[in-house]
Amino acid sequence: MNGNGNHSQERYLIFGANGWIAGLLKELLEKQGKEVKGTLVRLEEREAVCKELDAYKPTRVFNCAGVTGRPNVDWCEDNKQATIRSNVIGTLNLADCCFLRGIHMTNFATGCIYTYDEKHKEHGVGYTEEDEPNFAGSYYSFTKAMVEKMIKAYDNVLTLRLRMPVSDDLNPRNFVTKITKYERVVDVPNSNTILHDLLPASIVMAENKLTGVFNFTNPGAISHNEVLALYKKHVDPNFTWKNFTVEEQSKILKAGRSNCELDTTKLTTTLAKFGITVPEIHEAYDACFQRMAANLKAAK
Ligand SMILES: NC(=O)c1ccc[n+]([C@@H]2O[C@H](COP(=O)([O-])OP(=O)(O)OC[C@H]3O[C@@H](n4cnc5c(N)ncnc54)[C@H](OP(=O)(O)O)[C@@H]3O)[C@@H](O)[C@H]2O)c1
Repeated sequence: MNGNGNHSQERYLIFGANGWIAGLLKELLEKQGKEVKGTLVRLEEREAVCKELDAYKPTRVFNCAGVTGRPNVDWCEDNKQATIRSNVIGTLNLADCCFLRGIHMTNFATGCIYTYDEKHKEHGVGYTEEDEPNFAGSYYSFTKAMVEKMIKAYDNVLTLRLRMPVSDDLNPRNFVTKITKYERVVDVPNSNTILHDLLPASIVMAENKLTGVFNFTNPGAISHNEVLALYKKHVDPNFTWKNFTVEEQSKILKAGRSNCELDTTKLTTTLAKFGITVPEIHEAYDACFQRMAANLKAAK
């Protein structure tokens, strides 16, 4: 067991190197003095993947590659084959190539495979890792739920279900940046992943070769209005926003959007064994926006 990252012999290889989360993870590993490489090899190109694995000989692989759609997941509705190629064929190909070489792989997946139902009412009971996905309202979510089921066959894979990830800056990929730029925003409680809290935990989990599926969010759920009120308090006192209903939102979107709360019991009890505490989401946002305000001030 190791909670302080003292595995100096590890070599990390990150797929999807030009992506947002890949960049943050690489920076973090480098800061920790780890040996790390980012690769742009396409997940579905088996020979190229094998060549990369055999040349670099990583002890840990992180898959941060995947199609999320630009400008948003609606893109996947019109590009189903390309979505399958990366999110299903590519992801499974990488898992299989790592499996054949005995390499541990951490897969950055999504918790956007659930939607509130009668049992899991808002601010009620969260979805556990054992619950069957019940949201396929977007093709993106559909492919992610399918691949999660199949990848469970690989005992070298750790699946981390992120939701609405948030960084300490205003990167366009940040959930906060997105909702501050929308003309109107819904107001629904959701589980969110504050990357400052959880990316370091992903490294500890990989180093300790944990496998299986984990909900990878801060505990609790926070509504869009609560997030924006905290943003206004800490980052931009002049910020204002307008709400609309989920029904009104659905009229301007091609695909549905998942809203849900994930149960983090498995994650928090596991991380506690490594001395890691994950702050509750409101507390985590408060700290995140204070860091963001300081970062924005320093960048001026
Ligand atoms: N950001 C979110 O809101 C969010 C939420 C939950 C989960 N996730 C998951 O976390 C992962 C990383 O997300 P992100 O926000 O960092 O996305 P991102 O910024 O779009 O980065 C993904 C990267 O993957 C690359 N890529 C796509 N298909 C590939 C393939 N077949 N082979 C190799 N590279 C490929 C993309 O490169 P090209 O553009 O060149 O194709 C891109 O650089 C994704 O799997 C995503 O589903 C993200």
